[in-house]
Amino acid sequence: MKIAVLTGAGISAESGIPTFRGKDGLWNKYDPMDLATPEAFQRNPKLVWQWYDWRRKLIADAKPNKAHFILADLERKYKDLWIITQNIDGLHQRAGSLKVIELHGNIWTVKCLECGVRYREEKTPLKEIPPRCRNCGGLVRPAVVWFGEPLPKEALEKSYSCTVSAEVFIVVGTSAQVYPAAELPFVAKSRGAKIIEINPEETPITPYTDISIRDRASVGMEKLIKILD
Ligand code: OAD
Repeated sequence: MKIAVLTGAGISAESGIPTFRGKDGLWNKYDPMDLATPEAFQRNPKLVWQWYDWRRKLIADAKPNKAHFILADLERKYKDLWIITQNIDGLHQRAGSLKVIELHGNIWTVKCLECGVRYREEKTPLKEIPPRCRNCGGLVRPAVVWFGEPLPKEALEKSYSCTVSAEVFIVVGTSAQVYPAAELPFVAKSRGAKIIEINPEETPITPYTDISIRDRASVGMEKLIKILD
């Protein structure tokens, strides 16, 4: 059975990582236009890096939760299961998932605006803010996708190919507000996939689901195992 799983911030909520929208969401406290756009970085790289440095520490201290682990188990059971994630926290990989497409990049990778090199930078807290390129000393930025930027081409293409071939498309913990990720469940549906959503709240995807599990991710994933069996 071919399975694609789209995940969002909600799957990491039980690991203690805040989501973006909703009452305790990051975008309720901070303006994404000050922290998550290329223009914001140009204006004030120090401020942007301070915010990312804080998030990197939160993520470093967090552990994958039951939902991440169940997905990693499902990958071993269903050889054709791919995770398409909007998350930059790397928790799927830490739980043991191998087939993970990171649509919005990864918080542990940086790229240099001068020489273009990319590398993993795992120090937390960072020694210097903003950090400098270990190759040329230029300014580096987090290798994540910010508002107004295109998604990495290879990740986007792979996510579409998994989506169109999926027989079952599972959506976990995303508000489905940000495109093109939010479009994938509809693409899957138009190709005949069964859509299963796990989310404590209703989303724009809910009316199009075959099964809607209104629970937090860990509880919902337990129910999902039984449904797939
Ligand atoms: P959001 O914060 O928009 O949505 C989180 C979703 O998770 C909501 O629908 C919640 O109802 C749900 N949720 C909350 N707790 C949950 C739990 N314990 N289990 C399951 N679901 C839960 O996050 P995303 O949809 O991932 O992009 O946001 C998409 C993108 O917008 C992010 O990748 C980020 C953000 O701006 C960029 O920064 C470019």
